[in-house]
Amino acid sequence: MSTETIDPGDTVVPESADVPRAAETTATLPPAFDVAAVRARFSALTDDGFTYFDAPAGSQVPDEVGDAIARQMREGSGNIGGYYPLSDELSALVDAARERTAAFLGGDAANIVLGGSMTTVNFALTRAAARGFSAGDEIIVTRLDHEGSVAPWNELAIDRGFVVKVANLTDDLLIDLDHLRSLVTDRTRVIAFPLAANTVGSIAQAREIADIAHSVGAISWVDAVHYAAHRAIDARAIRADVILCSAYKFCGPHLGMAHVEPGVANEWRAYKVAARALDPLGARFETGTLPYEQLAGLIATYDYLDSIGGFAAIAPYEEMLAAHLLATLPPEVRVLGPALVDRVPTFLLTINGLSAESIARSLAERDIGVWKHTFAYEVGMPEALPEGADPIRVGIAHYNTVEEIDRLAAALAEIAAARL
Ligand SMILES: Cc1ncc(COP(=O)(O)O)c(C=O)c1O
Repeated sequence: MSTETIDPGDTVVPESADVPRAAETTATLPPAFDVAAVRARFSALTDDGFTYFDAPAGSQVPDEVGDAIARQMREGSGNIGGYYPLSDELSALVDAARERTAAFLGGDAANIVLGGSMTTVNFALTRAAARGFSAGDEIIVTRLDHEGSVAPWNELAIDRGFVVKVANLTDDLLIDLDHLRSLVTDRTRVIAFPLAANTVGSIAQAREIADIAHSVGAISWVDAVHYAAHRAIDARAIRADVILCSAYKFCGPHLGMAHVEPGVANEWRAYKVAARALDPLGARFETGTLPYEQLAGLIATYDYLDSIGGFAAIAPYEEMLAAHLLATLPPEVRVLGPALVDRVPTFLLTINGLSAESIARSLAERDIGVWKHTFAYEVGMPEALPEGADPIRVGIAHYNTVEEIDRLAAALAEIAAARL
């Protein structure tokens, strides 16, 4: 996005929360990414001409993922543990889902937990971990967090007398590491944070936060739900002890997953029927029978992502779209969020004098879907925004196009002009 050379560890701090506009559009497609061929694989993107900028809420899904789910149900449902071929096939499917998810998250297959949604898996893991905590122990979360990362700790705090502290953000909506450090004590048990914010696209200083957590023996607990749609994850490189994500955000089925490090999770007693030390480690935190057809869809999702070049192809294409958006938005549109450096392509936009709801409705009338942001699930965010800010969220996905961004910019210009 930026032409500057920046050390990976550096943070570029703009003067205000407004994103600097790119001087000129960089709308040239990276040659490897054929977005027309990508879109042809999605019935949802070819049928009615509607433009979706709402992937952070839930992405569209290529047909092959739905086909894999239907095929699994058609050709053989049932359960693992039998002495016949279909049952063996289901066991192999579970193994493959763990292996592919481990490759996706950057961990080991044995440590993968699969479940209904990120929130469901997180409630299970947080409760198991907290069995070893005492009243007065402290959990740190951040104002960038989604409620799926915060509510499990808040509920445990009510039951068990833990203290939940909230790390503030800097003016450019990154996690304020100085404030975070000031919250850490010898009672800190967990630092929970999002790898990328589903509101403003900020990317967390994950490795530094993990180091802060580890310096007091706390757990680095990472929500990778939003990041997983945009960049490759390497849980070990960022020293994540627990990392979670959710496949419906990256063109897959509704399914949550996590990777847990044995060094922290081995000692946790899971809430499970017939609870005992089970192998593999990840399976201890899964309750009941896994949704085998969803696992077939999950594997098809990884195949899909690989077939389009993976995040090595997706990330630069999305960065080009993000730069194009910032270069083409009309001047009446204000962009809230971090600098156009090392972020994912999710933007909060405002137009002076218009509510988010009226902008989102006007865009929907023009066949463009964005999110009117209520912050119902990002309760820490409003305090970090300019007072009274009522933004829409525009989430770019790899299946969006330059033409769609041009349509969005033109529609926003029309909506801003009509307000005068
Ligand atoms: C950043 C982030 N974390 C967590 C969640 C919760 O995910 P799930 O719906 O799988 O529980 C969401 C869902 O919107 C999210 O955007």
